[in-house]
Amino acid sequence: MSDLQNRIQQLKKEKNAVILAHYYVHDEVQEAADYVGDSFYLSRLAATTDADTIVFCGVSFMGESAKLLSPGKTVLMPDETADCPMAHMADIDRIERLREEYEDLAVVCYINSTAELKCHADVCVTSSNALKIVKNLPNHNIFFIPDEHLGRYVAAQVPEKNFIFNDGFCHVHAAVSPEQVRAAKRSHPEAKFLVHPECKADVLELADFIGSTSEIIDYASSCEAEEYIIGTELGVLYELKERNPDKTFYSAGAALCCPNMKKITLEKIVHVLETGENAVQVTEEMRTRANAPLNRMLELAAKES
Ligand code: 13P
Ligand code: SF4
Repeated sequence: MSDLQNRIQQLKKEKNAVILAHYYVHDEVQEAADYVGDSFYLSRLAATTDADTIVFCGVSFMGESAKLLSPGKTVLMPDETADCPMAHMADIDRIERLREEYEDLAVVCYINSTAELKCHADVCVTSSNALKIVKNLPNHNIFFIPDEHLGRYVAAQVPEKNFIFNDGFCHVHAAVSPEQVRAAKRSHPEAKFLVHPECKADVLELADFIGSTSEIIDYASSCEAEEYIIGTELGVLYELKERNPDKTFYSAGAALCCPNMKKITLEKIVHVLETGENAVQVTEEMRTRANAPLNRMLELAAKES
């Protein structure tokens, strides 16, 4: 174990801290974490952990969600500037206008969103539970924010509801093109193509499997195929290779790298544990309002479908 890894273990004990990391962070950060997972898994853990301090190795909306779900805990962000651009891509005025237009509107907010946007939502979803939650909502009219592509992916499977889309997108996943995927398939004709629903519809059409980061990892780990082309951020390759040392994984494109997730380093984890800097703050008003759709997500996701 490196000196930095040792120091992190020591500080964690001193502060009764737990380290949560998303699959998109650097390999060595995943190695240092107590729990690594997708957004849904991490938000459930944040809501239930006994630790006094959560170090969230991910982007701002993840730390904010952890603080909303566990207001009594200290949530430290190793890099305060690690932010997801998509989390800001929706307009509150438009939400309000649509609420006036459609009486039964449900504003369904992908967890990749600011706490401010969540204040205006009826329910949050992650990529692993969006379909189940939207299907089970009583509302007919759905405004899906901020990700257009995840929204369209869900809508295609719930034709009985009327969807209104927003034009937000993840610049990492939306950059994957069908040409890139076809080229990867030509180079690796036996490989299965596994993709995240933040990619565009013309890319999803080429998939053997569509799912969240955890679902992609579980699928590849239980499938018999030996080769896989992975259509999500390249950080997932670490867990894929750990769990499947005999299988081969190719990234669908060199650009599949989230620059914000990659800002998290071991040095920065040590720094926030030592100093207590970068603690997430949310106002009481924001906590009450933004917590409601997050808790509704946790309740609806736990229900039998
Ligand atoms: P999941 O963790 O739900 O797979 O989402 C991916 C993502 O883009 C997180 O930023
Ligand atoms: Fe945001 Fe995309 Fe990075 Fe996820 S991968 S944090 S959605 S920019």
